[in-house]
Amino acid sequence: MSTSILLRRISTLAGILPEGVLRLKGHEMSEFKHLSNAYLLLEGGMIVQFGPDQECQVERADAVIDCSGKMVLPAFCDSHTHLVFAAWRENEFVDRIKGMSYEEIAKRGGGILNSAAKLQAASEDQLFELASERLHEVMSMGTGAIEIKSGYGLTVESELKMLRVIRRIKDLNLIPVKATFLGAHAMPTLFKSNRPEYIRLLTEEMVPQIAEKGLADYIDVFCDKGFYTVEETDQILEAGARYGLKPKIHANELDYSGGIQVGVKHQAVSVDHLEYTGPEEIASLASSDTIATILPSTAFFLGLPYAPARNMIENNICVALASDYNPGSSPSGNMSFILSLACVKLKMLPEEAFNALTINGAAALELGDKVGSITASKSANILITKPVSSLAYLPYSFGAGWIEKVIIGGKEI
Ligand code: NIG
Ligand code: FE
Repeated sequence: MSTSILLRRISTLAGILPEGVLRLKGHEMSEFKHLSNAYLLLEGGMIVQFGPDQECQVERADAVIDCSGKMVLPAFCDSHTHLVFAAWRENEFVDRIKGMSYEEIAKRGGGILNSAAKLQAASEDQLFELASERLHEVMSMGTGAIEIKSGYGLTVESELKMLRVIRRIKDLNLIPVKATFLGAHAMPTLFKSNRPEYIRLLTEEMVPQIAEKGLADYIDVFCDKGFYTVEETDQILEAGARYGLKPKIHANELDYSGGIQVGVKHQAVSVDHLEYTGPEEIASLASSDTIATILPSTAFFLGLPYAPARNMIENNICVALASDYNPGSSPSGNMSFILSLACVKLKMLPEEAFNALTINGAAALELGDKVGSITASKSANILITKPVSSLAYLPYSFGAGWIEKVIIGGKEI
C-alpha cells in the first residue's frame, strides 16, 4: 500500500493552481493563490486533495504533520543547470577579484575550456558520484525538478559521456530530470581556426548519435559575443530540429547577441540569461511562446547588469527563474537565494518570483502538467517553511534558511 502524509492546520497553503494552467504570463504572475488554515493530503507520491482545515474528512494517514504557523509551497523547478562537472573553479574567482574579466579568463583558455579539460580526464563513475551528490544537495534546498546540460565535454566522446551521466541521474528517479545537449558551449582550442569543422562535428556526428541513443531532450547553444554567432546558432538549431531536439538556448548574457531573436525564430522552449535585452528583444519575446528564463545569480556573481524582468512582465512575457548552477558563473544551486535576488535586484514581487521559480520553471521543463504548483494529481513535491509571518518574509530573510522540510514524490528529504 502506498504511503500517505496528511498536513494539518497549514497557516498558508500557497501556489495553488487549477488543473490545466501550465504557465503564467505577465500580470498573471502577480497572483500566487493561497488558502489560509488548510489541510493537504499526499498519497502515492501525488497531491491528492486539499482544502480548508475545518473541512478535512481524511480518516487515516501514515503520517500527520502539524503545520501551525507554517507555509506550504510547491517545490522549486530549476530549468537551467550545469550540474555535471569535474571540479570547482575558485582560482578563477580569485583572478576576477584581482580584476580579470570572465571573458579575459575564457580567452586565455580558462573558463569553460578549463572545465572541459578536467571533465575529459574524469571517469564516468566519478562524474556520476559528484553529480548525484549535487543533486541531493539541491533537493535538500527545495529543488523538485531539474534540467541538466552537457557542454563541458566538447568532443564527441566526452559529450556522450556527460549525457550518459545525466541519463544515470535521470534513472535514479529521484526527481524529474531533463537533459540538454550543449556541445556548442565554447569553441575547443583545436578548432579555433577551423570553426566550420567543429560545427560539422556537432551537427553531423554529435547530434545524430545523441538523438539515436535518446540521450537529450533539448539542444542548446551559447549564442553570445566571443562564443557562437547567430549564423552558427541557426545551423546548429536546424540540425537539432531535424532530429527532434527542441532548443533551449543561452542568449544575450554578454551582449546584444541576436540570440533571443534566433531562439524565437526556432521556437525555443526558452531563451536563458537575457542580461542584454532591449526593445527589439522584448518585441521578439512578446510575439512568441518562448519563455524568458532569467538567471540572476550569474549576474550577481559576475557583476553583470541584471535582466529587465519588469519590462518583460509589463510586456506580457512568461518569465522563469533558474539557478544556472555551474562552476564558473554560478557555483550554487540554492533557489531560495535566486528568490531573494529576483525581488531585490530584478524588482519582482514575491508572488511573481515564486511563480517564476515554480510553475514557469516547470513550463520551461515542459512539465507544467506534472509539477510546479499545488494541484490535485501533480507530484507531491512541496516545501514546508519554518513558522513565518508572510510570503514576503521568505525573500526578505535572504540567506537565513526558511525551509524546514522538503517533501519530494511524497517522501521527506
Ligand atoms: O550559463 N554562459 C555560458 N555558460 C555558463 C557558464 C559556464 C562556465 O563558466 O563554466 C553559464 O553562465
Ligand atoms: Fe548556463
